[in-house]
Amino acid sequence: MQIEAFRGSLWDSRMDTICLFIFQEGYHAVEVLGENVSVKLKESIDRSYFKGKKSDVFKLPSYGDLQKDIYVIGLGESSKVSLEVYRSVAGDTARELRKNKVNQALVILPEDPDENTSRAMAEGFELGSYAFRKYKKEEEGEPRPELERIEIFQGNDLGIETGKVLACSQNLARDLANEPGNVINPSSLALHADQIARDMGLKCDIWDENKIQEEGMLALWHVGKGSSIPPRFIHLSYVPEGDNARKFVFVGKGITFDSGGLNIKPGEHMRDMKGDKTGACDVLGIMRGVARLRLPFEVHGLIGAAENMPGGNSYRPDDIIRARNGITIEIDNTDAEGRVTLADSLSFASELEPEMIIDLATLTGACVVALGNYTAGLFSPDDAAASKVMQASRTSGERFWRLPMDDEKLREQLKSSYADILNTGGRGGGAITAAMFLREFVKEGIPWVHLDIAGVDNYKKPFWYYPEGATGFGVRTCLQFLMDQVS
Ligand code: BES
Ligand code: MN
Ligand code: ZN
Repeated sequence: MQIEAFRGSLWDSRMDTICLFIFQEGYHAVEVLGENVSVKLKESIDRSYFKGKKSDVFKLPSYGDLQKDIYVIGLGESSKVSLEVYRSVAGDTARELRKNKVNQALVILPEDPDENTSRAMAEGFELGSYAFRKYKKEEEGEPRPELERIEIFQGNDLGIETGKVLACSQNLARDLANEPGNVINPSSLALHADQIARDMGLKCDIWDENKIQEEGMLALWHVGKGSSIPPRFIHLSYVPEGDNARKFVFVGKGITFDSGGLNIKPGEHMRDMKGDKTGACDVLGIMRGVARLRLPFEVHGLIGAAENMPGGNSYRPDDIIRARNGITIEIDNTDAEGRVTLADSLSFASELEPEMIIDLATLTGACVVALGNYTAGLFSPDDAAASKVMQASRTSGERFWRLPMDDEKLREQLKSSYADILNTGGRGGGAITAAMFLREFVKEGIPWVHLDIAGVDNYKKPFWYYPEGATGFGVRTCLQFLMDQVS
């Protein structure tokens, strides 16, 4: 989609639709449309139920000498407005316009948008208009309505540009995460990573199942060996020219389908497990965003890709596996596979000696039980690291909530009689024991933040700037975190 700023007289815009955003308190904002239109518009609004509540829409079709359709859209109370309100209302508006087969619009805000507001609007429109429809045929030969062009009146160019990059990075993650398991498997995910690297000038290393074993990534290998499509380890790196003293690593859980393995999931829990690669898809989105933003430090993206399947060659409960950093894992449950694969990725990440490691993983159902579907879990033994990511999330609008991992009594549930650690820690505190498991594979002294995105990886019903399906949740928070590190 094209999103651009528009400056000049309103009536010079070539857009055939105007979206006029107003606050709940009054419609004085409609006066920007000039006396002729605004008097009529106010009268029509007064006769309607429209009150300017958040995302409420009032439509005024073009009539008389007015050659443009007008959508008046509520932003709610001005005292409650925030960037997230702009972003959400823009997302809802994008879908409303598409539903009405509108493909271009001039957007007018109650106050001339600054850089941040312009960015939020661009993000909202780009994210809200996303739809994954590549496998569905068009209805009755009619071309699908697409939102093609948005002009933001008095918009800020830099804000719009940044918003587009962030939203497109998130949409890339959605595109990949929405693909089913018969399309994206460990090997095709690696090919996609390689293609993204080529497009963006990133370095891309891919290890196949033999190299994975030679390199001692036996945890990843064990999880992947039950599938007829073998595992891959994917390493993307962005190394800008010049002085690269600073380095960050992102790690994504890349289970392309999670059947549970021999501890097979019941059908209703297996549905949607194509989404178990969301962390990996997020990492690919982040890496493309990093390249487009030309950030001034080294950034690495790591993915252990595997398919968790039951079969004659599957890893088993009771198996004892040595991870890359030497720690031995006793398998209690093959459905706790994500943490097993992450063990090796986090060990590898530690060897890169970065300033910080952030992992994204659809790790536990327990996190969904704890926080619901609109807030992701954030875990870190390091207060400073945790608060930096929290701060970034307040800017991105993606909700995270920090859960504790200092409960040493709870940690005892991961003790194994035969190995260094067990891969599950019981029902209670399941998201926390999973984070505690991961901690064992991060080298002491490297700040690390774990993001459990199990509850937020897809939505059945669209709302705000989330379409139906994969969300790409986490991409913008991670990119914001990096952008915050620049100054
Ligand atoms: N991929 C799942 C976690 C998950 C659950 C993601 C629901 C999204 C929605 C993970 O691999 C898993 O199966 N976890 C188990 C762990 C248990 C066996 C200790 C779980 O949460 O039930
Ligand atoms: Mn599982
Ligand atoms: Zn899983």
